[in-house]
Amino acid sequence: MKRIAINTGGGDAPGLNAVIRAIVLAATQRGWECVGIRDGYNGLLMPENYPEGGLMTLTPDSVRGITHLGGTILGTTNRGNPLAYPVLGEDGQYHEIDRSDELLDAFAEQKLDALIAIGGDGSLAIAGALAAKGLRVVGVPKTIDNDLDKTVATFGFNTAVYFATECIDRLHTTAASHQRIMVVEVMGRYAGWIALNSGVAGTADAILLPEIPYDINKVAEKIQKRSSRGRDFSIVVVAEGAKPIGGDLTIIGKAVGQAERLGGIGHKVGAELQALTGKETRVVVLGHLLRGGKPTAYDRLLSLRFGAAAVRSLVEGQTGVMVALDPPTVNYVPLADVAGRMKRVPLDCDTILTGRDLGISFGD
Ligand code: F6P
Repeated sequence: MKRIAINTGGGDAPGLNAVIRAIVLAATQRGWECVGIRDGYNGLLMPENYPEGGLMTLTPDSVRGITHLGGTILGTTNRGNPLAYPVLGEDGQYHEIDRSDELLDAFAEQKLDALIAIGGDGSLAIAGALAAKGLRVVGVPKTIDNDLDKTVATFGFNTAVYFATECIDRLHTTAASHQRIMVVEVMGRYAGWIALNSGVAGTADAILLPEIPYDINKVAEKIQKRSSRGRDFSIVVVAEGAKPIGGDLTIIGKAVGQAERLGGIGHKVGAELQALTGKETRVVVLGHLLRGGKPTAYDRLLSLRFGAAAVRSLVEGQTGVMVALDPPTVNYVPLADVAGRMKRVPLDCDTILTGRDLGISFGD
């Protein structure tokens, strides 16, 4: 092993830079060179778009002082899947083509011996496919959504929950002062981890999750019951993937080569609650604020542990694996066991039971 590549794919998450730093320091100690691929795989697939080169040489100097920074120094994209790459056709429409063989040729040309791919479900599925085609690959699980299977946690999630909880705390005082309902929409795609954890920690009155289709009348009843006890404000946390019983997800749209974009359910819930309760309602969509900013100490440490473990896994000769938190250690699991297996909130999990014991409504 002489030269390894690192890339970051999909949505950014706090902790990416800490993973990069740990990989570079651990690899350099072993005498290996590190390069970063810009914007997912685009630095290799479209080097002509990068006047300074699609690859970034990474040394201990170039990764100094980045552990606490949000974002990724390599850049990222959620439109660069080499297996379904969007290209503009002569008909003016985007079409998806498989560029994975071209990508493997670029790895060979650049004399890259292995790849550490840092990403969520989509990026790890790509990493698994490249490993199956013979590339030496180790994955690192990233996502604020916490929806990856086979790891107790992904980095980025703790920071998102921490920030969402802080926002819910702030909304309490303004909601109470104005006797309003505050609806807070949070990200998380098809899993309710962020909504559940921040909602319980922030003592929301109702939490709507993708895993529990809701009846809006049940939420309105909960709010009216509070009013009858003199509690004239309420906080409702809504996961972007929440949906009513018998209803559909609220979707912004889907572009070629990209995942479906969720969003808008908070405004629907807010309008319905205002109509049902007669209470003035405001809606706050936290959106990408949950992905920005510096990682919490928990996420930094997890990121550093994942990055160092990824290098150790290459030393041990592993390939086609993902590093995974399995307290008290970090283990390796086959990438093939991770792809396509979304980790949703189990309905009998302790945090939901705790929420119910505290009197929080889940709209069911
Ligand atoms: O997967 C992370 C995530 O932030 C989701 O929670 C959200 O649905 C999605 O990415 C948003 O993606 P984009 O950055 O493309 O808007």
